[in-house]
Amino acid sequence: MTESPLASARILGIETSCDETAAAVVEDGRRVVSNVVASQAEMHAKYGGVFPEVASRQHIRTIHTVVEEALAQAHLSLDDVDAIAVTQGPGLPGSLVVGLNFAKGLALGSGKPLIGINHLEGHIYSAWLDPQADEPEPAFPLVALLVSGGHSELILMTGHLTYERLGGTLDDAAGEAFDKVARLLGLAYPGGPAIQAAAEGGNPAAFALPRAWLEGSWDFSFSGLKTAMLHQVRDLKRQSLTPEAAAVIKDWNTVETRLPVADLAASFQQAVAEVLATKARLAAQQHGAREIVVAGGVSANAALRTLVTKDTPGRVHIPALKYCTDNAAMIAAAGYYRYTLGQVAEGALALDARPNWPVG
Ligand SMILES: Nc1ncnc2c1ncn2[C@@H]1O[C@H](COP(=O)(O)OP(=O)(O)OP(=O)(O)O)[C@@H](O)[C@H]1O
Ligand SMILES: [Mg+2]
Repeated sequence: MTESPLASARILGIETSCDETAAAVVEDGRRVVSNVVASQAEMHAKYGGVFPEVASRQHIRTIHTVVEEALAQAHLSLDDVDAIAVTQGPGLPGSLVVGLNFAKGLALGSGKPLIGINHLEGHIYSAWLDPQADEPEPAFPLVALLVSGGHSELILMTGHLTYERLGGTLDDAAGEAFDKVARLLGLAYPGGPAIQAAAEGGNPAAFALPRAWLEGSWDFSFSGLKTAMLHQVRDLKRQSLTPEAAAVIKDWNTVETRLPVADLAASFQQAVAEVLATKARLAAQQHGAREIVVAGGVSANAALRTLVTKDTPGRVHIPALKYCTDNAAMIAAAGYYRYTLGQVAEGALALDARPNWPVG
């Protein structure tokens, strides 16, 4: 399916799977008419990660305003949209139900069809959003590298909404590794942007860090790299002390010393980006896919964007930065393709949250 049989369909998307309350209106799966994201990142920063109870309460506070704002910015009312697409999973249960229940209410009240969307599928469809002039849409077969806070997946798509999971992380997701290593380096949450900023001017070859290639599989592993970073930081701290002082240290977190943060961040970022880019390119080659989609929060990473694009012979589609992290435009985009195939919920109340819903 390249051309939709429906010339123009307008979808209202709603997303509350984690710590962003988001709503958007998208036409024909590509044209973003409005896109509103209320981020709770600042509220969670003091916990160093998302606090689920805080997240769901905040979604409850903001969902109504965010959806109204998305419609207002689009100069539309609910009557003007063809369907409502909402994230059904995966995500935090308490967060998912807020968006889901709100969307159910809208669908019941308006009689509009409701479409349940997999959040990961949404991330992939962010690559279809807001094309630059003349930019062709992603062509199948393609390999999607989905790298976010909770997932690192390689997925083969032979057509719209058709997913074959090739592999994924065996331990930490790429974004999670960024967040944890940022904490180790004393950088702010969320760690990805902080590491990228700290890495500017750093030498990516300063520290020899391991790459888990896991040859023969399309899986990833970042726990070894994370541990190597921990040991590297500990060694640097040890070197800053006399042997006598080092011998009595029980908790290295308590040792404050000036670390070469730029070099550490650049070396770590390079190790992650190299593995992700190389495996995505090889997976595409082996599966006869000419094109690659990179999506999810970590696809905002400049080193990764450069590496994937540089070495891939075919076209690489990476969303604009504002569509890399959680948003509802991507949910509306995926919703458009489900809507064109008639894949809507049988009755608005039929949809339940699916916190562990895999893709493919
Ligand atoms: N420039 C960047 N470089 C590296 N990582 C980044 C960058 N920007 C954001 N990230 C990472 O992306 C993650 C957030 O992405 P996203 O919002 O897609 O994840 P999520 O929704 O929490 O997880 P999931 O989609 O798996 O449920 C965080 O781990 C963050 O550190
Ligand atoms: Mg996400």
